[in-house]
Amino acid sequence: MTAKRSVLPGWFSGLSIKLIATIVGVIFTVAVVVYLPTIANYRASWLDDRLRIGVVAARVLDAVPDVMALPRNLTDRLLASAGADAIVYRREGQSQLIERADAVTPTLAVTADMRQRDYVTLIMGALDTLFSGGGTRTLRIVGEGDFSESLVELLMPERPLRRDMLEFSRNIVLVSLLVATFTALALYLVVSRLFIFPVRRLTANMLAYRRAPENASLIIVPSTRRDEIGIMERELAAMETDIFSMLRQRRHLADLGLAVAKINHDLRNTLTSAQLLSDQVATLDDPKVQRLAPRLVTTLDRAIGFAQSVLDYGRESAAPPVPAPIDLRSLIDDAAFDARLVGHPSIAFVNGAPAGLRINVDGGQFARVFLNLLKNAREALEASGTAIPDPQVKVQVEENADGLAVSVIDNGPGLPPRARDNLFIAFEGSARAGGTGLGLAIARELTEAHGGRLIFVDVPQGTRFDVILPSAVRLP
Ligand SMILES: Nc1ncnc2c1ncn2[C@@H]1O[C@H](COP(=O)(O)OP(=O)(O)OP(=O)(O)O)[C@@H](O)[C@H]1O
Ligand SMILES: [Mg+2]
Repeated sequence: MTAKRSVLPGWFSGLSIKLIATIVGVIFTVAVVVYLPTIANYRASWLDDRLRIGVVAARVLDAVPDVMALPRNLTDRLLASAGADAIVYRREGQSQLIERADAVTPTLAVTADMRQRDYVTLIMGALDTLFSGGGTRTLRIVGEGDFSESLVELLMPERPLRRDMLEFSRNIVLVSLLVATFTALALYLVVSRLFIFPVRRLTANMLAYRRAPENASLIIVPSTRRDEIGIMERELAAMETDIFSMLRQRRHLADLGLAVAKINHDLRNTLTSAQLLSDQVATLDDPKVQRLAPRLVTTLDRAIGFAQSVLDYGRESAAPPVPAPIDLRSLIDDAAFDARLVGHPSIAFVNGAPAGLRINVDGGQFARVFLNLLKNAREALEASGTAIPDPQVKVQVEENADGLAVSVIDNGPGLPPRARDNLFIAFEGSARAGGTGLGLAIARELTEAHGGRLIFVDVPQGTRFDVILPSAVRLP
């Protein structure tokens, strides 16, 4: 109940920030993935455009028998329209060349072979141009001419291509940014409305309700959604309603318990006064009184005993155990003494706990466990009178993988059916005159508070209860 209290995270932490980060990450990744083929395509079509002009030039070169005879201004115009320094045309082992008058021999040339059009080559080429094409590199564009087995080559500086590609990239980045911003915003708004708002509402409600579970106005009002969040809201509302009524019921029961305790206390005092009177009456000589007095005394004794047990039960169950090292054998001896088994005129008591076995438990509470079990055994044996030859109560200790088992065994009549049906249920389990039915319920509660178990073991003759303790309580 006292676990650390949480607080609702702010709007830009928690789920929202994770959502924004995811959207931005995904859009960025998609943009990069889409950008590479796009820029590669752009470069390919740019080069194709130049090559097309080269092919036109090649047609001219193919038509004239002597290239040298072509007028200079015509070749210059052809070269200028392709943006090339030189065009080479190769066909059937022969090659023709036109070049600008001021052309210099290229120092560093890269080849863009447009006959290879697979995406890897195109993307690698684009990246190469972008990263290394900023200098004075010369580009050699190779492509097929009009005729089979003819080749056209254009030589030109790489810089204009790179400049165009950069400009194109800039546009892509701008458009992507715009698209990303709008998509992210739209996605964020939709997801916020659909998920984050409702989840925050649920979270805030849980936090508030946990602080004041007895305030019914804090029970969440579920929406009419039919999805998982709707189910969550309805389930939470149902859970909160249940908790609310359970708490209210508990409080009423606790109040009733207090009232019972008060009445019981007064009753016990009144009965004690009656007991004193009955003691006085018992001393009278009247034979009628002498016959009735003992019954009166036992009846009052029982009533007082009952009132006392109910009072004890109310007090007892609240205290958590305070463990301390204790010797098991002497703890059982003390409990047997309190249960009036030590020195009993007819019942033999055997304490089978080994000497020197120490356990770490709340001594007071554990003595009560064994007191109840041993008392029950004595009461059962006493009630059967002489029907049982050699009545005996025995305690034996066994250590196994389960832990430490302390058994209380008697050779009495065994559990009556009524007791069997309501075993360990407070006020219900009693099957003997004057019993409250608390002994076994208290014994089990105390054992469980120590992390142990109290079980009834069905044996052919007599009764056996095992107190099983976790191995951790055994001290070396
Ligand atoms: N060793 C036993 N042999 C026979 N019957 C037993 C034995 N132990 C318990 N019982 C039966 O189980 C019933 C429940 O026992 P429990 O100790 O819970 O209540 P109780 O002895 O009747 O009352 P209380 O212990 O509160 O005075 C008893 O009334 C008795 O009938
Ligand atoms: Mg009992």
